[in-house]
Amino acid sequence: MQHGEQVRLIRRILAHMAAGTTDRGEVAQSPVTRYLSPERLAQEQAMIRSLPVMVCASSSVAQPGEWFTHDLSGVPMVVARGQDGVLRAFINACRHRGARVVDGACGAGRRNFVCPYHSWSYDLDGALRGLPHPQEFPDLDRAKHGLVPLPVIEMCGLVWAVPAPSAAMATAADMRAWLAPMAADLALFGYDRFVAHDTRRFESKHDWKLVADANLETYHFKFLHRDSIAPLFQDNRMVADAFGDHWRITLPKESIVQLQGRPEAEWDLTQHCNIIYYFFPNLMFLFIGDHATLFAVWPRGIGASTIDAITLIPEPPATEKARTYWDKNVNIFWDALMEDFHLMDSMQSTFASGANTHLTFGRSEFCSAAFEESVERHLGGHPA
Ligand code: FES
Ligand SMILES: [Fe+2]
Repeated sequence: MQHGEQVRLIRRILAHMAAGTTDRGEVAQSPVTRYLSPERLAQEQAMIRSLPVMVCASSSVAQPGEWFTHDLSGVPMVVARGQDGVLRAFINACRHRGARVVDGACGAGRRNFVCPYHSWSYDLDGALRGLPHPQEFPDLDRAKHGLVPLPVIEMCGLVWAVPAPSAAMATAADMRAWLAPMAADLALFGYDRFVAHDTRRFESKHDWKLVADANLETYHFKFLHRDSIAPLFQDNRMVADAFGDHWRITLPKESIVQLQGRPEAEWDLTQHCNIIYYFFPNLMFLFIGDHATLFAVWPRGIGASTIDAITLIPEPPATEKARTYWDKNVNIFWDALMEDFHLMDSMQSTFASGANTHLTFGRSEFCSAAFEESVERHLGGHPA
């Protein structure tokens, strides 16, 4: 983020502090049926697959021959760095009879991929290289039987792919245009060079959208997080900026009062705020000064999601002391986040009870409401 933008955000925060206010929108409601309907869930899954989603950290596929598989969208994908240094993404399906060509989560040192079933082999650029007994396929057009490519780019230290491209999201250029406004902010923090330190996956018992709803407001901080991070942060205060369907939410800490009376040239937003970059549809990227923890939320069923998380740090820890420092930061993050995840389980467990036909978002929860509206709008292109 440019320094000028940091100063503008800090000015907005200080003005809110003086007035006892926060960024606000209108009161809004969201029907509980949105979190209970199998038809709708299928539409939402199709919508997510049609947009750029995080596959892994760039550092996981930095070297030629490194590869990484991803199945959470429902489309089996594999990304691989070719011997030419180019990163490519494919549907992980053999063009013979459809077996998964690449088994396992990730690896290194590959020069090609060989299907375990009948040994059709593919170069890392996806081209069909060879098959046993080729006389059994006299009319095979090899050029038409390479692995099916998917659009892929690297941005913010992450690999992004579109599992099910559409006319509107078919190329790397489409993906860049979609992500660029947010990525420009993060690039200035150096994320393009960061490496994955801690990766984790876990299942949770709630609708995927509740995670966005929870992380796009600070109304709950003082209560839900009273024993963890609440003392650091201001009560019910944030400044929020929309970048298309994405959001940047700046969360001021109590310590920001130290900037009052100091020259603006010395103001450093990152010392006194956490920043959430929510990449629509399903990636929350929390910028915490010198590192970031981010996670994608994948719908798995009614009231069931998978969380796919990475912490990005500036360089691999060279000493035990450095490792301990990063581990401690990661643990603080997840201790607080698990407070949210438990509450989301709690919410989901009441939705079918009939107590609420709608959830209500207050004025300072307007970004959560806006996220729900973005989902509604995007579902228009994915009818049941
Ligand atoms: S399915 Fe892959 S070689 Fe037959
Ligand atoms: Fe929270």
